[in-house]
Amino acid sequence: MILILDCGSQYTQLIARRVRELNIYCEIHPYNNAPKLTPAMKGVIISGSPASVRDDDSPKLELEEIKGKLPLLGVCYGAQYMVQAFGGKVEASDSREYGRANLKFIDEQSPLMTGMPMGSQVWMSHGDTIKQMPEGYKLIASTADVEAAAYKIEGETTYGIQFHPEVYHSKDGLKLLENFTVGICGCVQDWTPISFVEDTIEKMRKKLGKDHVVLGLSGGVDSTVTAVLLSEAIGDRLHCIFVNNGVLRKDEFENVLEQYKEMGLNIKGVDSSDRFLNALEGIADPEIKRKTIGRKFIEVFDDEASLITNVEWLAQGTIYPDVIESVSVNGGPSATIKSHHNVGGLPDFMKLQVVEPMKSLFKDEVRRVGKALGIDDELLGRHPFPGPGLAIRIIGEITKEKVRVLQEVDHIFIQGLKDHGLYDDVWQAGAMLLPVQSVGVMGDERTYENVVALRAVESTDGMTADWVHLPYEFLAEISNKIINRVKGVNRVVYDISSKPPATIEWE
Ligand code: XMP
Repeated sequence: MILILDCGSQYTQLIARRVRELNIYCEIHPYNNAPKLTPAMKGVIISGSPASVRDDDSPKLELEEIKGKLPLLGVCYGAQYMVQAFGGKVEASDSREYGRANLKFIDEQSPLMTGMPMGSQVWMSHGDTIKQMPEGYKLIASTADVEAAAYKIEGETTYGIQFHPEVYHSKDGLKLLENFTVGICGCVQDWTPISFVEDTIEKMRKKLGKDHVVLGLSGGVDSTVTAVLLSEAIGDRLHCIFVNNGVLRKDEFENVLEQYKEMGLNIKGVDSSDRFLNALEGIADPEIKRKTIGRKFIEVFDDEASLITNVEWLAQGTIYPDVIESVSVNGGPSATIKSHHNVGGLPDFMKLQVVEPMKSLFKDEVRRVGKALGIDDELLGRHPFPGPGLAIRIIGEITKEKVRVLQEVDHIFIQGLKDHGLYDDVWQAGAMLLPVQSVGVMGDERTYENVVALRAVESTDGMTADWVHLPYEFLAEISNKIINRVKGVNRVVYDISSKPPATIEWE
């Protein structure tokens, strides 16, 4: 296992993902709250940081237990920190140290640089630079502008690199990380989806014994994979609940429920559309919509869960990015905070213990695990869909009729993407019903009906996104279909904003 100490860099998660790509397990922990070292920890990586080592309040690491005892790799800030803290000099750089650079010197004897070709492209992103290295530090790579691109501390397996091996633009970055984790730390590359499935089933059987577990299924990838994994472990003692909140996609409740049943899950579908839509009546504020749906969901779920006797556990489809972000909120250094996910535990009145079998996995790993479990590609490839569903895509107040209109529009758009083979090229797509009426003409009549906006984005994690350049012919066909078939809509627009500064949803 590799321990990654997070000093707040936007790239910290990327380091972990790259190490996992090498089939090596790793965990991210805040630099100031590192876990106790165990024999399973084979090496440590210190991340970059938005801070400067020259600032008084920048991250200070306690390395006594690690440095010189375990292999250690400092990346960017991590490398500069180990220079500054041990008698060297780090200063603001006066030359260009952002973007692409090429290695012009490589110490071929260094195990960190094995197989790195001369001229290898690396990605730099730092405002400070190492001006003078402490005694006993040896240069192992340089670029034209950055002499100390990489160093080693003699007599130790401690390394520092000022470039970012984890980003795609560092062409041989994965090779360097492999050199460190496999060559220097001696990690075995045996972390695979199948090994995860086998280990987790074993662990869950031990942990849950003969207990019963309840799980809320959403139709999304995370909760589905969690359900199948747990059902492999404890069979029908897993009780799944799938709630229709009245703001799902067209026919989604019936279709997904059917799919889950075919997969052999012990599932109960609960149609609470009216309860949700009544609670949402008259609410236009998006945050109140979200809270109302969240609260109703807990009510419905609690009612259903209490019908099952002997339940001791609540399973959740929490995944690693949620956990990392929650750690950062609780005192860790990372600046990224998302407000809308499901960490934070369970309401007091549900006195259940929580089990989260997927909480060490990244999203792409969840899909690979799902595949290893034999889950259908169509289900695993589903676009993300927000918990509050169409409620936050109907701008302003929600009515049953508006839900119906938007369901029809959304269905034509999504089905169109599938029919034209575009669905898998898009990360997320949907339609917004705007509270704007515009004039139109149908036959000899003037109409005064609603506008819908279509949105399709590409992204890897939803944090940043760009609009997809869908073919004009496709947009023309979809627009025609919507206007001809959906009563109440006479104008279609396509959203061409990226995130940031816009967001994916409209509210
Ligand atoms: P934004 O609009 O913030 O969306 O760019 C980023 C991603 O998060 C989803 N999203 C939500 N998901 N509850 C959820 O479960 C919410 O309240 C919520 N709001 C936005 C959005 O669909 C996109 O995938």
